[in-house]
Amino acid sequence: MKIAFLLLLVASPFLFAHAVAPPPQGLDGLLANGNFEESPKPSKLNGTLLLGKHALPKWTIHGPVEYVSGGPQPGGMFFAVPHGVHAVRLGNEAYISQNVTVKPGSVYALTFSATRTCAQDEVLQVRVPPLSGDLPLQTLYSSDGGDTYAWAFTATSTVAEVTFHNTGVQEDPACGPLLDAVAIKELVPPKPTKANLVKNGGFEEGPYVFKNENASHGVLLPPKQLDATSPLPGWIIESLKAVRYIDTAHFHVPFGLGAVELVAGRESAIAQVIRTAPGKYYNLTFVVGDARNDCHGSMMVEAFAAKGVLRVPFESTGKGKFKAATLKFQAISARTRLTFFSSFYHTKVVDSVSLCGPIIDQVRVYPVA
Ligand SMILES: *[C@@H]1O[C@H](CO)[C@@H](O)[C@H](O)[C@H]1NC(C)=O
Ligand SMILES: *[C@@H]1O[C@H](CO)[C@@H](O)[C@H](O)[C@H]1NC(C)=O
Ligand SMILES: *[C@@H]1O[C@H](CO)[C@@H](O)[C@H](O)[C@H]1NC(C)=O
Ligand SMILES: *[C@@H]1O[C@H](CO)[C@@H](O)[C@H](O)[C@H]1NC(C)=O
Repeated sequence: MKIAFLLLLVASPFLFAHAVAPPPQGLDGLLANGNFEESPKPSKLNGTLLLGKHALPKWTIHGPVEYVSGGPQPGGMFFAVPHGVHAVRLGNEAYISQNVTVKPGSVYALTFSATRTCAQDEVLQVRVPPLSGDLPLQTLYSSDGGDTYAWAFTATSTVAEVTFHNTGVQEDPACGPLLDAVAIKELVPPKPTKANLVKNGGFEEGPYVFKNENASHGVLLPPKQLDATSPLPGWIIESLKAVRYIDTAHFHVPFGLGAVELVAGRESAIAQVIRTAPGKYYNLTFVVGDARNDCHGSMMVEAFAAKGVLRVPFESTGKGKFKAATLKFQAISARTRLTFFSSFYHTKVVDSVSLCGPIIDQVRVYPVA
């Protein structure tokens, strides 16, 4: 990753604000000036307000966009900027865009750190035409701000115009989402195998995770993601709230590189539809545990497959433990939906605000006699 980042920096003098950015080398990394650390010229700023479409290096801007530094702000607000020092704040109806070179037909996940600045409902719209997604920033998943989200799209041409848009209008023009860093990763479409009918059952394939952080927040996967363009390949994110993708560099992951933390109780589930033969029996196996992230308590994961239901209790002491579970079910059609959610809500012991929950990993379905 460091290499990819350096290559981007080396390439950057040849780019104009409206030019096509080179694809991040090695398929993943920050967008050009993706962490906004390349500052605008002083002549392009009035206080913190950016002046003109091309004021922000490598980006095109529309509407009132502020270039801000993390920490306490005039007027009493505090901006959390975990990735570097600088961020942009999107005022009423403002947006920023960048063109990125992509491969048509490939699926890409954008990972970005975004937070609301006021208590009002703030929505950040992410767009790569023809797709767009509205991200409600109402729920703060971490107490210290700077939640990281992922959103994915399928490239329809060689250039993807990536836009972050504050579609709302607040009475206080000092409100509006703060965007701190943006990265992209090409996702490898997972395939089911004979040994496992579940795609990406070990959560090995997922969105880009920011590095160089003292404490990662993981990556929130927003609600209502369809499997075709999910930032977690193969999986559907259902319901009202996000689930969190966690990686082994920052959390305890039972197997391999990634796992999923069910942070929003019954308000969020992950699901996958698999191919099955009606009447046949299958075993669904998975592990339930904790991410060693200060999430304690009596947990329960509920798993559903056809008419089968399994409730797996797990006592978390926040030590990164896990246990295996098996559900034998009989398929009733050619497609079987697997669904997982957490029965209860949990918050971290340290602040009793940051949402957390049980993790699941190593999901497998195979036919049994
Ligand atoms: C992206 O490229 C298209 C086509 O060349 C152009 O119309 C658009 O203005 C570009 N957008 C940005 C943000 O540079
Ligand atoms: C800078 O902002 C101030 C206060 O809003 C305004 O009076 C002034 O005209 C602005 N200057 C420029 C160059 O836009
Ligand atoms: C990360 O940790 C180091 C060492 O404890 C500290 O100096 C640095 O300020 C921390 N960085 C952030 C962003 O908290
Ligand atoms: C399927 O799971 C059941 C437990 O529910 C277990 O007894 C059985 O051995 C498993 N079958 C295979 C083939 O693993």
